[in-house]
Amino acid sequence: PEPTLAGPVATLDWASLASTVAGCRACGLCEGRRNTVFGVGDRQAGWMVVGEAPGEQEDLRGEPFVGPAGQLLDAMLRSLGLSRSGGGVYIANVLKCRPPGNRNPEPAEVASCEPFLRRQVELVAPRIILALGRFAVQSLLRTDEPIGRLRGRVHQYQGIPLVVSYHPAYLLRNLPDKAKAWADLCLAQQVAAQAQAG
Ligand code: URA
Repeated sequence: PEPTLAGPVATLDWASLASTVAGCRACGLCEGRRNTVFGVGDRQAGWMVVGEAPGEQEDLRGEPFVGPAGQLLDAMLRSLGLSRSGGGVYIANVLKCRPPGNRNPEPAEVASCEPFLRRQVELVAPRIILALGRFAVQSLLRTDEPIGRLRGRVHQYQGIPLVVSYHPAYLLRNLPDKAKAWADLCLAQQVAAQAQAG
């Protein structure tokens, strides 16, 4: 079915968006979750990082990227002078509820949940979006292309520059690709600096 939330969600403010997510029962993932995972960080940030979905730790704590992949993400952000508590970045996922056993999101789950992410992007209005992993990238850019074909150049999401990179959980398993992720961060930083100057 078509996502029914798209219309109403598009006009919600932060408080009503957060409470709608907290009470959402639009797909089956609500049955297995312990917590919804809305987003964290600076709601007026210049940077927005978009990941895939909560894992076990995130589901327990209700905060994105707090497990092993999150530690790597925090290190990546530190290299840019950003931190989730110190400002400058807002972090959210495509899915707000954990898929069982961390399986991949189903297309219907992405379709029903992505209006929340799209509204978060609209409300933050960042200078740069860093989309990590294929689910974030494919949802925001409406493409089936793999990361390897999309990274290395600047895309646009609703007029906002968007840079694509590998998901930190993937990087933990594929250490040689860290060099490419580093190049992606440098590209995003250049774009963010240009946007700030302009
Ligand atoms: N992976 C993600 O994509 N998001 C999280 O919040 C945690 C792990």
